[in-house]
Parts: sequence; structure tokens; C-alpha cells
Amino acid sequence: MKKYFPVYVRVPLLLAIVYFVLESIAGSTDKPAFIDQPIVFGFLLLALFIIITIEVVSAATNRIMNRLMTEEERLEKERLESRSIFDSPALKKLMQKLTRTRAISEEKELLLDHDYDGIKELDNELPPWWVGLFYASIVFAVIYMLRFHVFDGDNQIEEYEKSMIAAREAVEEYKKNAPDLLTVDNVVMLTEAGDLAKGKDIFDMKCAVCHKPDGGGAIGPNLTDDYWILGGDIKDIFHTISEGGRAGKGMIPWKSDLNPTDIARVASYIKTLHGTNPPDAKEAEGDFWKEEAVAGEEPTDAIEPVDENAVN
Ligand code: HEC
Repeated sequence: MKKYFPVYVRVPLLLAIVYFVLESIAGSTDKPAFIDQPIVFGFLLLALFIIITIEVVSAATNRIMNRLMTEEERLEKERLESRSIFDSPALKKLMQKLTRTRAISEEKELLLDHDYDGIKELDNELPPWWVGLFYASIVFAVIYMLRFHVFDGDNQIEEYEKSMIAAREAVEEYKKNAPDLLTVDNVVMLTEAGDLAKGKDIFDMKCAVCHKPDGGGAIGPNLTDDYWILGGDIKDIFHTISEGGRAGKGMIPWKSDLNPTDIARVASYIKTLHGTNPPDAKEAEGDFWKEEAVAGEEPTDAIEPVDENAVN
């Protein structure tokens, strides 16, 4: 054990295991981890037990051995134990290869003829590790030059901008194929000018034929008054657009044509048409509907209930 796991491996290992055991008992979660992971906990305890046992047993046998050994045997044992991996011949050979150092005893052979007032010079070889790095940096410089100055590679800022564009495209792509992202349950009124402008575009393109470009209503009902057949809340409007109106009335479900975000945009745009009183508007249909005052929001002006068939 000692031969394969020297003390600088054994002690950290032991400490790490103790740490994990304590962590699993008094971890940061409300439930100690050993309840969730009893097998891992068991193995940790087992490992801890084995390591401690080995330490105790080897310390005890060492003591007995030391007592039984002669002085020379003890010294020999100490010498073997104090050998570190840095004494290994393979490592020494590798270091020699990388540095090509010469022993001080060979210094005479390296001495140059130069002698400046007693200051002499050794003709040491350049260490191969250094020479290797030097050539590597030349190769790197050539590649760098070609990539960025000849072939005009992107610098960090350009790379950043490109990946941001790609990420935005990926988000858009994801939104297209993730119909559950926005639903009747979580849709809210959009107020950003960009969203409303997009909503207007969609309305003009797909909805104006039946609801008139100003929302006053033609085949479809007036969308600017206080009366709604299918509910005037943003959630109701979202639902109507996405699932369509009552069967046979002509308002088809748009969910296969428009993604949820676009439905929310056009629904929000419709809400901005409220109270615009366009000329030649269709007469009111449905029930009087009043925006519920939401805490923190300005309540909409109270509107006198009007006759259902009154012309707006
Ligand atoms: C083919 C004509 C037609 C088109 C196109 C059309 N609608 Fe309608 N829409 C109707 C009719 C008809 C109704 C009434 C449905 C009912 O009575 O159930 C209606 C109802 C509605 C309502 C509910 C009104 C209320 O009083 O509750 C909303 C909101 C609405 N449409 C939005 C849209 C939007 C947004 C579009 C475009 C994406 C659109 N419509 C396109 C014909 C149309």
C-alpha cells in the first residue's frame, strides 16, 4: 500500500473521503444526502474504514518490524522509503533529454577561449525544450498572420456578434416550433412598439378583409367597441384568434398560420384599437365587457352600459 500510495496521496484521499461523509450528513440541502444515496454513503464509509484500518495495521507492524530489525536493515528500509518518484531513472532520462545539461565536472570541455578579465564563457547547448517552444512560436506566428491578416479571419468582436446573431436565430427557430411557449394561460398584453407594429402588419394582411383595416368590422364583428361575443380580455382574444370563433361563423382558428407570439402581437394590437370609434363601424355584438382594474394599473374609464343594438 505504502509503495503505491505515498503519503501525499493517502492523506488528501483520506481528507477528501472524510469531507464527503460530513457533506453527505450535514449537506446544504434540507435532507441529508445519505438518505437519498445510501449506497454511495455506504461505499464512502467502507473506504474510510479500510483506509483507517490499513493505516493502523501498517503503523503497528512497522513498529514491531523496527524493533525486530538490525540497525543496517532499518537504515536500508529508511533509504528505500525516502526514495521519491523524482529519483526514477525514466524521469531523469526525460529531464536530460529536455535540458541537455552537462554535469559541473564536464565544465572544462565546454569552456570557450574567451577570457575577459577573468570572466569566462561556457558553450552550453540551447535546451531542447526552449528550442522546441521557439520553433512552435514561429509556426504559430505564421498561421496567425495568414489567418487574421491575409485571409481576414474574424476577431473576437466579430466572432461575438456572429454568435449572437446565430443565437437569436436559434431562439426564433425554437419559438416557431414550440407552440406551448405562449398559451392562453400566460399571455399578457404586449406594449412594445415593435410587437404592436408587427401585430398591425398581421392584422392588415390577414384580418382586415373581415374586420376592416380600422377594426370597425364587416363580416367579422367590430373590434373597437365595448362589446365582445367571445370575451374582451387579452386571454379571450388570444383564445379566439388561436382557436377560432363559434362554428360556422367564419372566424377560423389561426394557430396553424400564426405562431403564439404573433397571435399575442395581433391580439395586443386589437386591444389598442379599443375606443377608436372608426367611421361606419359595425353595430355592437355580444356582451358589454369592461376591463377589470388590476392592482397597480389605471382602471379604465367607467363606460355607461349602452343598448346592445345601439350603433357605435
Ligand atoms: C373570413 C373572415 C374573418 C377573418 C379573415 C378574420 N375574422 Fe375574426 N371574426 C370573424 C367572424 C365572423 C367573427 C365572429 C365569430 C363568432 O361569432 O363566433 C370573428 C371574431 C373575431 C374576434 C372575436 C370578437 C368578439 O366580439 O369576441 C376576434 C378577436 C377576431 N375575430 C380577431 C381576428 C383576427 C386577429 C384575425 C386575423 C388573424 C381575424 N379575426 C380574421 C371573421 C373573420
